[in-house]
Amino acid sequence: MSKPTRRAYRWPKHLKGQQSLWYGCDYNPDQWPEDTWDEDIRLMTKAGVNVVALGVFSWSRIEPSQGVFDFDWLDRIIDKLGRAGIGVNLASATASPPLWLTQAHPEVLLRDERGDTVWPGARQHWRPTSPIFRSYALKLCRAMAEHYRNNPYLVAWHVGNEYGCHNRFDYSDDAMRAFQRWCRRRYKDIDAVNRAWGTDFWSQRLSDFSQILPPRFIGQGNFQNPGRMLDFERFSSDALKDFYMAERDTLAEITPDIPLTTNFMVSAGGFALDYDDWGNQVDFVANDHYVTPGRDHLEELAYSSSLVDAIARRRPWWLMEQSTSAVNWRPVNLRKEPGQLERDSLAHLALGADAICYFQWRQSRAGAEKFHSAMLPHAGEDTAVFRDVCQLGRDLQGLSQAGLAGTTLAKAPVALVFDYASQWASSHAASPSDRVEHGQEPPVWYRAFLDNAIRPDVLPVRAAWEEYPLVVLPALYLIDADLSKRLHKYVHGGGRLIVTWGSGIADEQDRVWTGGYPGPPRDLLGLSVEECAPMAPGTPGLLDHLDLTNGVRAQDWADVIGHLDKGTKVLAGYRADPWTGMDGMPAMTVHDWGHGKAAYLGCRLDAQDLAKVLPALLEALDIADMRSAQGDPDLLRVERVSGDDRTRFVFLFNRTRHPVQVQLEGQALVGSLASVDGDGKQASLQVNGALVQRVVGHRH
Ligand code: GAL
Repeated sequence: MSKPTRRAYRWPKHLKGQQSLWYGCDYNPDQWPEDTWDEDIRLMTKAGVNVVALGVFSWSRIEPSQGVFDFDWLDRIIDKLGRAGIGVNLASATASPPLWLTQAHPEVLLRDERGDTVWPGARQHWRPTSPIFRSYALKLCRAMAEHYRNNPYLVAWHVGNEYGCHNRFDYSDDAMRAFQRWCRRRYKDIDAVNRAWGTDFWSQRLSDFSQILPPRFIGQGNFQNPGRMLDFERFSSDALKDFYMAERDTLAEITPDIPLTTNFMVSAGGFALDYDDWGNQVDFVANDHYVTPGRDHLEELAYSSSLVDAIARRRPWWLMEQSTSAVNWRPVNLRKEPGQLERDSLAHLALGADAICYFQWRQSRAGAEKFHSAMLPHAGEDTAVFRDVCQLGRDLQGLSQAGLAGTTLAKAPVALVFDYASQWASSHAASPSDRVEHGQEPPVWYRAFLDNAIRPDVLPVRAAWEEYPLVVLPALYLIDADLSKRLHKYVHGGGRLIVTWGSGIADEQDRVWTGGYPGPPRDLLGLSVEECAPMAPGTPGLLDHLDLTNGVRAQDWADVIGHLDKGTKVLAGYRADPWTGMDGMPAMTVHDWGHGKAAYLGCRLDAQDLAKVLPALLEALDIADMRSAQGDPDLLRVERVSGDDRTRFVFLFNRTRHPVQVQLEGQALVGSLASVDGDGKQASLQVNGALVQRVVGHRH
């Protein structure tokens, strides 16, 4: 399909004109009596809030019955906010349709795989392909834009909300017809669909586009056609995008000067939509991020934000939602530890955010999110959470004054490549092992690099990873001919590449490459994989792990590398009982190609073992110095740089569960659970501690 054009980058302008960081939240004043509003604004001012997202779920208040609009309450609160210097990121308000609409038109409701209706009772129960729903939603967008076109306090449009969070897949007849049209656009003729999906298998041959169905229920224990599944995931992302774009264009036509965005859900485990593709369709990227409590908390956050920054193509982005403390949607909802509220926000800033916002301002009394934390907790103003919220507000002001806004994330030396389509395809059933998926692997590599004191960047496969000295493809399941061409050019020009097991198994249609994995990049790596050897942990007597000759242990997956080219050097192999058929088989290799080198890791390692083998891989790739150039594995160190490269903001985060001493590189600006020593040259970071410094002068 043709390459989408990217919208020009536009960032919302502050009411007071100066370039500074945004700080705020979702604000739902319509869920509270009006006499709390002045108190809200007093406390927002105290906290340093300068923006709120308004009206996200307010459709039933804005249009209480069909075609009857009530903007009075919204006008009153926008006016109060604006006069207090708080800008409004106004929602299109379409996320949750009112009951009068679904009562009159039950045919707009989503259908699940079995054709059951997804009834109102929560939110996002609409189908993006319903022409009826679209016409109601666009009427609302038009009414909103016309009413607020000259409002001085409107700084941005917040279109929809987390598209696909609850309506990612719809199996209705509307969806079926839209899927048929989508396939026609992609493939032109039906035989191309047959080839793409391999429909001669199980007599699934199509003779007309009208025979194309969404992957509806096929009975327990049966298997869907994987080609159709992959295209249905692509289609579902596109169907929602199409809906979003219709809303966006309606708003933009009436208010062309107001930047628009919608909040993505990028995280290490979030694959609802192809956010890299969606990134082309917003004026600035916005993301919602909820942390994974426990050991991965900081790493997962940094990983996700790094991916967001790459989706934003390194322009400042907006952290639209996070929690001040607990969420309410896990089985057990842990509160944040002291310091994590500030540390998490500083970490998003470090990785390129210029706006730090929360869900939500005031913790709800009623409704499904009453136990979700907020900036102003149930217990009120005199609380640790609200004090932290105010402290963060002061720190953001300090960082704004120091010139952080508008600087960008400094490039790391390593690109870890992630691909939504590879994740979707590799998560489908009927594969060698349901224990592995592409999306699990880049975060494991992320941690392993950090453990070697190297911070990698995470890049979507379409982004310019060629600009990095080292590129890693972790279990990148789909490699098509174009990607293979890029890889060849990159390595030929001197690039260093690491490819792992599970990569290049199939092409862009999930058709397996013949002649050995990993498909067309085989010659770069100088090897060919004959078969994969999945492992079943905890099943003694069967293959449950494999020991490598370099002391680490493979689990879940190993490749049967059947052929090595002459020049391919084996870095490690397996040491195993003969019955496994794996004894002496190569596990880690390196191969010269053009002016570059390409290494292969033929088995799955956990982060700890990966961290152990990384030095040997870097050495074999002739880039061992990458390690010594970096700092301390106890720290996450991130830099943002000014456009003229003269000012750097160095962010340090304690990754451990004990205090860490750090050498200061510049002027300490903001610290959280951090104390600078008497002579000003050292600092100590407590558990969850963070420190931001400014270093002026060109880098050597
Ligand atoms: C997001 C959503 C918010 C709120 C929040 C709670 O998914 O956009 O409206 O529900 O989660 O964590």
